[in-house]
Amino acid sequence: MNNGFLSGIQPSNLLHIGNYFGAIKQFVDFQNDREGIIMIADLHALTTTKNPATLRKNILSLAATYLAAGLDSEKNILFQQSAVPQHAEMNWIFSTLMRMSELERMTQYKDKAIVQGENVNVGLFTYPLMMAGDILLYSPLTIPVGEDQKQHVELTRDIATRFNKSYGDTFVVPGVQITEVGARIMGLDDPTKKMSKSAASEKNYIALTDEPDVIRKKVMSAVTDDIGVVNYADSQPGVKNMLDILSLIKDRDPGDLALDYEGKGYGDFKKDVAEALVEFLSPIRAKILAYLDNEEELKKILENGAERARVIAEEKMIQVKNAVGLIV
Ligand code: ADP
Ligand code: TRP
Repeated sequence: MNNGFLSGIQPSNLLHIGNYFGAIKQFVDFQNDREGIIMIADLHALTTTKNPATLRKNILSLAATYLAAGLDSEKNILFQQSAVPQHAEMNWIFSTLMRMSELERMTQYKDKAIVQGENVNVGLFTYPLMMAGDILLYSPLTIPVGEDQKQHVELTRDIATRFNKSYGDTFVVPGVQITEVGARIMGLDDPTKKMSKSAASEKNYIALTDEPDVIRKKVMSAVTDDIGVVNYADSQPGVKNMLDILSLIKDRDPGDLALDYEGKGYGDFKKDVAEALVEFLSPIRAKILAYLDNEEELKKILENGAERARVIAEEKMIQVKNAVGLIV
């Protein structure tokens, strides 16, 4: 049994500081005392990305970002979901176990279905089943994800429990881990919604590869309020969000940081936030670009990870097939 952590990110667009603080940073911290299985969820990304060249670029870029953030590819298993066929296979088995109504309740699906109407693809509907397979194939104890993925991990727990009840103990029921601060970085152009790589405007997010001047422009135009005082308060979501960002970079309490700006306006505050981000992201950006310069090496790292993942996934799949009565 594996007692490490497992997580994944879809290579669906540029990664931003929300992904970094809400997900990647945690993986890096975790690797000190346990082994991680970290995937590039490219099969999931197919539900929204229809451009092959973009998908290829995003897969490599996510691999480069994981490594640039400090993930050790020897200690952890870092791989592409599509390189391990058991993920898609498990998806089918789970689809025969779960009810339509259970998937219809998933908020991420409901949100997407509202926007896409009749065009919503079947993959978006069954997406949580694939995610359950991603997790249960590897028996991890914890799944570090942000708030928005919590419901999918809870469904995974239900699937594991139901499978075990129907067919005998096969899966370890995993826990869910969410960071305290930084679990939810909000959009700079609309601080009432989370920062997202699929946001309509580029002003919504700070990408990890944004150049210093782009970062400065985005922060200076971030939406605040007309109160004009830097407080850490829910009534000032834009300011609060930037204090959270600053707090994550400086490793200081956001309420304390607000006190540094007594008697100062938003201009000074935003300048500090921008400079802190520039300083923090510059080395990460440089490393991402350096990894991207050596595509062959990146592919080798991913293939090595996939080989290690396949060994675990193949063994679990045999147990599952035996449990349900498929002769192996
Ligand atoms: P996006 O919404 O930008 O497309 P994903 O849904 O692919 O991002 O999320 C990848 C990981 O990053 C997940 O673990 C998710 O919870 C985390 N994450 C995404 N956006 C944020 C955010 N704004 N703040 C904190 N964590 C986030
Ligand atoms: N669905 C997750 C997201 O969009 C990505 C993901 C795919 C994942 N498989 C996973 C996360 C397994 C944790 C565990 O963020």
